[in-house]
Amino acid sequence: MEYSPRAVSDQENTEVDPSRGSFGTRFGFLMAAAGSAVGLGNIWKFPYITGEYGGGAFVLVYLACIVIVGLPLMYAELIIGRRGGSDVFGALRNLTAKSGSPAGAAVSSVAGIMAVLSGLFILSFYSVVAGWAVHFLGVSVGAIPAAPGGAGPTFTALFESFEWSATWHTVFMIITVVVVSGGINGGIEKICSRLMPGLIGILLLMLVYVGVTGGLGDSLEFLFAPNFHKLSMEAVVEALGHAFFTLSLGMGAMVTYGSYLKSDRGIVRDGVTIALIDTGVALLAGTVIFAVVFAGGKEAGAGPGLVFVTLPDLFDSMPGGTVIAIAFFVLLIFAALSSAISLLEVVVSFLVDRFGVSRKAAAAGLGVAIWGLGLLSANSSLTFGIPGALSGFLGEGDKAMLDILDNLTTRVMLPLGGVLIAVTAGWLITKEDREAGFEHLERGPGYAKAWTFLIRFVAPVLVLFVLLVKAEFISLG
Ligand code: PFF
Repeated sequence: MEYSPRAVSDQENTEVDPSRGSFGTRFGFLMAAAGSAVGLGNIWKFPYITGEYGGGAFVLVYLACIVIVGLPLMYAELIIGRRGGSDVFGALRNLTAKSGSPAGAAVSSVAGIMAVLSGLFILSFYSVVAGWAVHFLGVSVGAIPAAPGGAGPTFTALFESFEWSATWHTVFMIITVVVVSGGINGGIEKICSRLMPGLIGILLLMLVYVGVTGGLGDSLEFLFAPNFHKLSMEAVVEALGHAFFTLSLGMGAMVTYGSYLKSDRGIVRDGVTIALIDTGVALLAGTVIFAVVFAGGKEAGAGPGLVFVTLPDLFDSMPGGTVIAIAFFVLLIFAALSSAISLLEVVVSFLVDRFGVSRKAAAAGLGVAIWGLGLLSANSSLTFGIPGALSGFLGEGDKAMLDILDNLTTRVMLPLGGVLIAVTAGWLITKEDREAGFEHLERGPGYAKAWTFLIRFVAPVLVLFVLLVKAEFISLG
C-alpha cells in the first residue's frame, strides 16, 4: 500500500526533503513505528511489573494511561515530526519558530536536547538487556552451556560476568548500527517489515501452545479480573511511566519517524494503530507468560527475573520446551532490535540534520559512544551511591548503572520530555500545524477539539502531578 501520489499532491505542505530519505509504504512506516513501541517494555517489563503490582487493576490503570495520555501524545509527536520535517530538535524548533511564540524556542530546545540524551541513555542499557536475550537464545539452542542448577544460576552468572554481558551488548550494538546505517527505506523499513510480522506470528503460535498445555484460564483471570485492593499510588505512577516507555514517547522517536512521512493523511489512524499493536502485543505476551507461570505452579511477582529465570526453567519441563524457549528468545530479540533501531535513529537524525554528518559516520560514531556508555551497565558490580534527594526517582542506596539509567529515563526524562512536547504541541505551534492530521477526517473538528483539550490540560497536568509525587513534593500519605 504505497502512499499514493494523489494523496500527497492534494495536500498542502506535503513536500519532504528527498535527501533525508522517507518511508516507502504506509505498511513500512507502521511496522517501524510499531516496532519501536513493541520492545523489551512489552515482553520483559510489562509482565513483570504487572506481576509485581498484582494484575488486573494495574492493567486497567495502564490501559487508561495509554488512552488518556499516551494516544494524545503519540499524535502530538507524529504531527510535530511530519510538519516539522526534521530531527526531533529541528522539528520542534521549526514549528515553534513558525508560530513566533517567544517561549517556544526555549521550551523546544530543552525538549529537543533532552530527547537526544534520553535516546543515548536508554539505548546504552537497553542493548545490555537485549544482549541477555541473545545469551539465553544461545543457551536454548545448546551453543552456550547452562550453569548447573538451571536458569537461575545461568542468569546470575551472566549478570555477574562483565565479559559475557559486554560481549552480547557489543554484538547487539553492531547489528543496530548496521541497520540504521542502511537508511530509512533500505535499512529500518526493510528490517522492521520482517521483524514485526515474525514477532506477532511467534506470539500467536505460543498462544496456541499454552492453549494446549494449560494455564490460560488462570492467566486471563489474573490479567483481566481487577482487584482494586491491590492497587497503590505507587502502581499508578508506575503505570503512567510505563505507558510512556512502551509507546516510545517523550523522547521524539515518533517525531523522528513522523518526519520521514510523506503526508499528514492517516496520522491519527496510524497513531491509534501503533498503540493498538503495542497494547495487543503486551497483553498477548502477558497472557502467554502467565499461562506458563501458573501452569508450572509459580508466582507472578518474580520481578525482573520473570522472563530470564522463571520462564526458561518452566520451558525446560514442558513438552517441546526447547523449541518454545528458542521461539521466545527470538521473539524478545526481534522486539528489542526494532526498538533499539528507533533509539539510535533519534540520535543519528539529530547529527545528520543538525550538523550535516553523513548517516554512516553518525551511526558508527554514536554506536561507539553508546557502546562505551553501555559497558558501565554491563558491569553489574560497579555501583554508585544515590544522594538522598534523588532516591525517590533513582532508588535508595548503591545502584548499578543499568538501574540508574533505567530509572532516570523512565521516571524522569521521558515524562518530563512528554510534558514539554505536550506543551509545545498544545500551546506553542500554530493551529494549522496542530490540527493538520484531523483535517480530512469526517468528524475531524470534534476530534481535534477533544485532542487539544487532552494535550493542553490533561496530559501535562497528570504527568507533572506524578513527577511531583515521585519527587516527594506532594505526599499522598
Ligand atoms: N518502546 C520500547 C519498549 O517498550 O521496549 C522502548 C523505547 C523505544 C522507548 C524507543 C523509547 C524509545 F524512543
